[in-house]
Amino acid sequence: LSADSLYIVNSFAQKFFATQLFETEEGTQIAESYLTERGFSKETLQKFQVGYNPQARSTLAQAALNQQYSQDVLLKSGLVTLRNDELVDNYRGRIIFPIHNNSGKIIGFGARVIGKADKAPKYINTPENEIYVKSKILYGLYFARLAIDKADECLLVEGYTDVVSLAQAGVENVVASGGTSLTVDQLRLIKKYTNNLTIIYDGDAAGIKAALRGLDMALEESLNVKLVLIPDKEDPDSYVRLVGATAFKDFVADNKKDFILFQLEVMLKEAGNDITKKNDVVNHIAETISKINKAEDFSKQQEYIRQCAGMLKLDEGGLTNLVNKFI
Ligand code: CTP
Ligand code: MN
Ligand code: MN
Ligand code: MN
Ligand code: MN
Repeated sequence: LSADSLYIVNSFAQKFFATQLFETEEGTQIAESYLTERGFSKETLQKFQVGYNPQARSTLAQAALNQQYSQDVLLKSGLVTLRNDELVDNYRGRIIFPIHNNSGKIIGFGARVIGKADKAPKYINTPENEIYVKSKILYGLYFARLAIDKADECLLVEGYTDVVSLAQAGVENVVASGGTSLTVDQLRLIKKYTNNLTIIYDGDAAGIKAALRGLDMALEESLNVKLVLIPDKEDPDSYVRLVGATAFKDFVADNKKDFILFQLEVMLKEAGNDITKKNDVVNHIAETISKINKAEDFSKQQEYIRQCAGMLKLDEGGLTNLVNKFI
């Protein structure tokens, strides 16, 4: 089974799903109700090649078999499963977000239930195969890369709909990690286009934790990392719809925090007046600062030592010594 055969079946499926969304009664109904209520324009949906997998058991499977696609490649793609000797669609009744590689070929799909996700999982994603390797994928990069290069900044959000909504609002330099913590491979993909990474996550505890997990790795890759926390209960998609494109851009510009200083602020708040905890904070931040690639970013490291020593009311020389212990 070749990688090419997977690209080809994915491309077939994408066209099939798009046709279902825009040219069938069932699909048009979804487009005009659910997707319209969410504020997605037809133009945006077409740009991102969004589609729909009908509810019937095997619409896609039948169409693909009619076109002589093999059972093997269909199963490998994750588009269908075998049930009682019959191929059935995996993404029945779901909105389909195709995921592209850097040359625009479709490597997989994210499939969202319509409406609230009560019983079924909200998203089903393509299983890992020869061409879909989750740790190396950033959703939206294919559409965002020129804008990232131009802005010299990459915005990182959690979800598919965050990328699509922001692009529709004119914020195009944005990619999604798919809700998991960042990997080195993903950071290196970003580094091809810019050294400036701005993480825009929801402000809930899980969002902050997920963001902080990527920090040390990003520093080791010599990225400048900023953080924007979206207000309570919102995510970038819902927030841009709530306040509009201009206010969203202003919010991001006004609330960009340096990631290292933010981490220190959070830890200091948690430590309060506890001496032991404060000592842990000093060690932790020294270790973080030590991750800055000294060969490439010596002056950046010096600057962080200066600012963090100030916040910790410590002597700069002492913090420098501690940082060097971690190198
Ligand atoms: N995700 C996933 N599987 C799930 C839930 C989430 O793969 N069961 C991934 C998806 O990539 C999703 C991202 O994590 O886009 C963020 O999850 P969440 O915030 O719950 O979804 P949203 O992207 O906000 O989707 P929506 O706005 O449609 O609810
Ligand atoms: Mn550049
Ligand atoms: Mn969240
Ligand atoms: Mn979300
Ligand atoms: Mn959302």
